[in-house]
Amino acid sequence: MNEIAQQLLAQYLEPYHPEQSIPDYIEYTFDKNHQQDTWQHSLNVAKQAVMLAERYGADQHTAQYAGYLHDLSTLLTDHEKVILAEQLRIEILDEERQVPYVLHQKLSSWLAAEWFGLDEPDLLSAITCHTTLQAELGTMDKILFVADKCSWASEDSAPFIHQMKSAAEHSLDDAIVVYLDYIWQQREQMVLHPWLKAAKSVFDMKQTGQLLSTLPALSQPISWGPVTARFQPITSLDEIDIAQISNISIVPMVGDQVVIMQLEDGRWELPGGTLEEGEHYVTALEREVMEEMGATLIDYHVFGYFQCISSAETPYRSYIPHPSFIRLTVYGQVQLNHQPLNPPDGEQVSVVDVVSIEEAIKRLSTTGRQDLADFYQIGYDISLRS
Ligand SMILES: [Fe+2]
Ligand SMILES: [Fe+2]
Repeated sequence: MNEIAQQLLAQYLEPYHPEQSIPDYIEYTFDKNHQQDTWQHSLNVAKQAVMLAERYGADQHTAQYAGYLHDLSTLLTDHEKVILAEQLRIEILDEERQVPYVLHQKLSSWLAAEWFGLDEPDLLSAITCHTTLQAELGTMDKILFVADKCSWASEDSAPFIHQMKSAAEHSLDDAIVVYLDYIWQQREQMVLHPWLKAAKSVFDMKQTGQLLSTLPALSQPISWGPVTARFQPITSLDEIDIAQISNISIVPMVGDQVVIMQLEDGRWELPGGTLEEGEHYVTALEREVMEEMGATLIDYHVFGYFQCISSAETPYRSYIPHPSFIRLTVYGQVQLNHQPLNPPDGEQVSVVDVVSIEEAIKRLSTTGRQDLADFYQIGYDISLRS
């Protein structure tokens, strides 16, 4: 530790000797710095964390110490937190420069390790992500996070707290989802830490997986003529090979309703289609929406893809990947402008309806298109969470 860091810490902390009791030392320190409230909070968190550790089979001693230690670095002002992190060569993300308070999770973890010589990975990890969560969460991370949120937040400042507490009685993950959903609704008004976003996308993916397992057609390989398609949810295009994309399909939405389309021969169909040669998938999507629904695409969000394998000898069109290719799936808002264009070489659409998701599912599943019903269901469900 360099001199600047030492001086900063010496304003608040007396040297710690290994024979001292850590909780006594922390209590004394908060007291000396007139932050008894934070000590009370830390005691509460420790108590809650021990209860949760007992319930979820984690180490109670670790949970207790995580509670004592997690907010120790809030002694420093926000400005000092930035300087200390810089001096200690702790990485500072842009979002942490905007909201330096959040640095206290990294700094408290540093204190646990360097000031007190504690080296237990679960303890240090839990303190490091107790405010923002992170993509990979161990049981102790979840325990400290939930204990902390349930301890500081009053019903006024945190209307989710009651629901979070009751969820924590049966599942730490459910308690975290309550919090994430609440924060997500407020996201326009706050700076979201990238670790929180990563955690949110992991939990979203879990929920999508659970929903998918309840959808009879979509969770099985689907046969579309010579093509066998297997649906896979994704949150980012990084997860696929873009060169494999040869089709794109959309769950088209108008506000919170969905658009469904019926062909001249009475079949309900999946909006979207095959890319033209050299065409970008977004251009293809805009074109298909225009041709099939007479609509303008306002926005789109990728939520999955169908991994397709064709048993045909030759590709459907000479330029598309064969026999394996990707049908990308998105949901998005559209604006209906006019009748479908129905170009002569495409499918002829006769009906375009804007209906509730329930009505769409009813129509699709009762006309033998459970695959489409499931596709609409999952796209719609994911759109609600995003
Ligand atoms: Fe904290
Ligand atoms: Fe806290």
